[in-house]
Amino acid sequence: MIDPFETHEPDIHPDAIVHDMAFVSGRVSIAKQANVWPMAVIRGDINVITIGARSNIQDGCVLHVTHDSRFSRPGGEALTIGEDVTIGHNVTLHGCTLHNRCLIGMGAIVLDGAVVETDVMVGAGSLVPPYKTLESGYLYVGSPVKQIRALSQQELEFLVYSAGHYARLAKRTAKPKT
Ligand SMILES: CC(C)(COP(=O)(O)OP(=O)(O)OC[C@H]1O[C@@H](n2cnc3c(N)ncnc32)[C@H](O)[C@@H]1OP(=O)(O)O)[C@@H](O)C(=O)NCCC(=O)NCCS
Repeated sequence: MIDPFETHEPDIHPDAIVHDMAFVSGRVSIAKQANVWPMAVIRGDINVITIGARSNIQDGCVLHVTHDSRFSRPGGEALTIGEDVTIGHNVTLHGCTLHNRCLIGMGAIVLDGAVVETDVMVGAGSLVPPYKTLESGYLYVGSPVKQIRALSQQELEFLVYSAGHYARLAKRTAKPKT
């Protein structure tokens, strides 16, 4: 379901694929070939959510933001996802920034103000604390996450492959537009 919030309509590129059973609302923009899977909730009511080209938001993910108040940093916390990003099943992303080509493992939680730089892998079930920055090129796992090791060349290549794979899979599962 794609829903306005007050006067804000989601802005979804015609080549993006959002499953009918996902919920997308408000100030959300989704770029070309990005894909959103069943039961994902993307709620851009009180701040902006941006999803870059070819990124995937897998089944059961929850994406939300923080509004500007005396309890937040000025402007609150928007949620920004770069290009070729894989967000595994059941991930929670809240008011954070993910740069290009990262992979957030299944069930992980990324909290407000956290920054995941390009080419980072976050292990399944991990927790990224508020305002923590994960350095480009590394694997992080645990709750809270710790830097484990540099990603191998094969893993770096997999990050791009994973996004491409999901973009192709979404096309195969999408119903023809009427
Ligand atoms: C993180 C991951 C890539 C690790 O792969 P790996 O090559 O087996 O990792 P390593 O062998 O280098 O493991 C390093 C250490 O981290 C531990 N570890 C691995 N994954 C972990 C996780 N998710 N949480 C906590 N610890 C983890 C390993 O047990 C190992 O610990 P040890 O040194 O004490 O034995 C993998 O476990 C994972 O979580 N993948 C995510 C997959 C996913 O969710 N994809 C998206 C959906 S399609």
